[in-house]
This record gives sequence, structure tokens and C-alpha cells, in this order.
Amino acid sequence: MEVLGIDIGGSGIKGAPVDVAKGVLTQDRFRIPTPEPSTPDAVGDVVAEIVKHFAWKGPVGCTFPAIVQHGVTHSAANVDAGWMHFDAEPFLRRKAGVPLRLVNDADAAGLAEAAFGAARNVPGVVLVLTFGTGIGGALLMDGKLVPNLEPGHLEIRGKDAEKRASDLARAQKDLSWAKWAKRVNEFLARLELYFSPDLFVIGGGVSKNYAKFGGYLQAERAKIVPAQLLNEAGIVGAAMAAMDLIPAKLPVKKKVTKPTPVKPAAKKKTVVKAKPKSKKK
Ligand code: BGC
Repeated sequence: MEVLGIDIGGSGIKGAPVDVAKGVLTQDRFRIPTPEPSTPDAVGDVVAEIVKHFAWKGPVGCTFPAIVQHGVTHSAANVDAGWMHFDAEPFLRRKAGVPLRLVNDADAAGLAEAAFGAARNVPGVVLVLTFGTGIGGALLMDGKLVPNLEPGHLEIRGKDAEKRASDLARAQKDLSWAKWAKRVNEFLARLELYFSPDLFVIGGGVSKNYAKFGGYLQAERAKIVPAQLLNEAGIVGAAMAAMDLIPAKLPVKKKVTKPTPVKPAAKKKTVVKAKPKSKKK
């Protein structure tokens, strides 16, 4: 069972076919830089190009870095304003020419980590956070997703949390890993206050560098672990979100051969042998 997963990010749009039962990519990723400006039309053309690259005819799952409620994009923090309150799912479906499902990028990462990664079989409340151009978050309860959490827009010190603690903010402000982790810890403390998660999973583009900053991270009650699917979580989770678009297998019709009528077997005559008369002595 394969679905094409496409991850629309702030800097790149990546796609690959995914074996959704195993949570693995079945071909090399194909990446195209995110167009500037990232208008629906320009991004839609890239999505269509990725579909064409894989000569894909089946269902496609696609992430987007904004609120995605019932296929409509309702925010545009790191993308062109044209996506505000935009009926994005049918638009991208038309561009791609195949069945397509659209989900928030962090929600997709959460689905993938819950099924195949660091949140697998973890009961209770888990927060999967993605640190990249912005900060995304997926809230899981016993492995079930509560979509569109948007923790990156919590206000901390008068600013959106992602403006202070995203991976982009770290790079732009040239923060050391220790200094950046301090900002992340402030963010985690706030999330802990609001949601009391049992586990934080740290994902997104920054997760490949976990060894450099993981030791600085701390929370009062929650455990903190790195994401396991790293940069592939978006693609895998996008594909998982579109699993219901896989056409159901029709039952294979068996060739019906008419049974040849069986003649009732002729009744055998039972010959009852006469008992030999016993000789009288
Ligand atoms: C967006 C989220 C997204 C996150 C990570 C934020 O700016 O509002 O929807 O999940 O960035 O890309």
C-alpha cells in the first residue's frame, strides 16, 4: 500500500512514495525549493511537478505549514498571504490531478511519530514539536491526534514563541545551542503549564542536531526525547493522513461454473441370501 507523501515547508517542498504499512520511503526523496513568493499558484505548480516526477496516479497526502481545517488553510505565518482562508485542498487536488488530502505539517509529523517513531505505544498526553522555519506542534492523547494546536504562536516575552525559538531564529540570531535551548526551555515550561504532557518529542529540521542541544533541554515533569523519523516525518505523516483515499480492493469475482447435475446412483438390489438350513442331527 503506497501513498505519495509531499511535505510543503518554508524552504523546500519534498516528496516521496511511502509504504504506509511500514512507514518508510520506497524511493529517493525529490526536493524543489519553495517558490518565492509562495503563492497558491506557484506552490500548486511544484506539487504538480512532484506528482509528475514520480508519474504518480494514486492518492497523495500533502502537508502545509499553517492551520488546515477541513481542507481550508486559515493562517499564513511563513507563507504567502494568499493562503489565508483559502480552499486549499480542492485547489491542490486540481493541480495534482489525483486524489489529495491536505494536513498541517506538525500534525503529519505527530501521526508519523505516533505510528512509527518516538511516540509509538506511548499512552497519555504527548506533544510532538517541530522546530524549523516556524514551530509546529501535534497534541496526541493515547496516540490519537487533536489537530491544529499551533503552539508556535503562544506569546512569550511579547513575541510569538517561534520568533524567539524556531531553528530559523537560532540561525538568524546566531545563537549558541546552549542559548537557544534556554529559549526552548522557556517555551516547554509554558506548554507544560497548559497541557501537562507526559512526553515531549523534539522534531523538525533541527532534530538531526539533537546531540548538540538535547543535553541542555529540561522540563519539570515531562520526559524529553528526540523525534525518530527526523526530516522524513512530514512525508510519512502526509501519506498516512491520505490512507483513506486508497481505493478499496474490490473482492475478486470467482468464475462460477455450473455444477453438473449428479444422477442419483441406481439403487443396488440387496440380495438376501437364504440361510442354509441347518441339518438336523
Ligand atoms: C504555523 C504552523 C506550522 C509551524 C511549523 C507555524 O508558523 O503556524 O501551522 O505547523 O509553523 O511549520
